[in-house]
Amino acid sequence: MISKDSAKLLNNLFENHNDLTETNNTKRFHPTVVEIKSVLDELHIEGKNCQVIRIEETSNRLAVPPHADGPIGYESMIIPLSFRGKVCTILFDSYYKNNNDNPKGFKYRPTKNKYYKNEWLSPDDEIPSGLSNKPFQNKNYDKLLSYLPIEDLFGLQIKKIVPWQERHIIKFNSNQLHSGSHFKGKKRWLLIIKKIF
Ligand SMILES: [Fe+2]
Repeated sequence: MISKDSAKLLNNLFENHNDLTETNNTKRFHPTVVEIKSVLDELHIEGKNCQVIRIEETSNRLAVPPHADGPIGYESMIIPLSFRGKVCTILFDSYYKNNNDNPKGFKYRPTKNKYYKNEWLSPDDEIPSGLSNKPFQNKNYDKLLSYLPIEDLFGLQIKKIVPWQERHIIKFNSNQLHSGSHFKGKKRWLLIIKKIF
């Protein structure tokens, strides 16, 4: 868990930045290692190992469909900063197998539907491990995942549902497939992707 002071620093940085690529429903800000040094110290993270540091706020229901943040050898950390009601990060029992140094990550999209104009999708040969050959079936679909077409969850199985708690750290290997849950209003979080080996 990060301290209230750290959360305040992150929220202030986010609220006072100017992002020219900002869209109506999503704001992103990439603070520098120097700007959030006190937060990294608190988390015992060395700035040189950080691949991505990003604060993001979105009201787009489809902002976080199933994907992996990066290849093998990285760890992701989500720290919820603000949200309303129940929000979860859903970890699937599937892994992106790429172990090159491509930090782009992977999108799992069996229908190949693009959710927005000019969206990039992963090539066909990058199939993650752990997929079944069955349609997605889970009692939590209606409550947590019905913002997604069920066809785009084909073969996935939920490993863990992690409810968001403000300032509490959610950690997983960056190559593990995960998605957001349904949410109300806006959600804001800090993402750090760091090299682990
Ligand atoms: Fe992610």
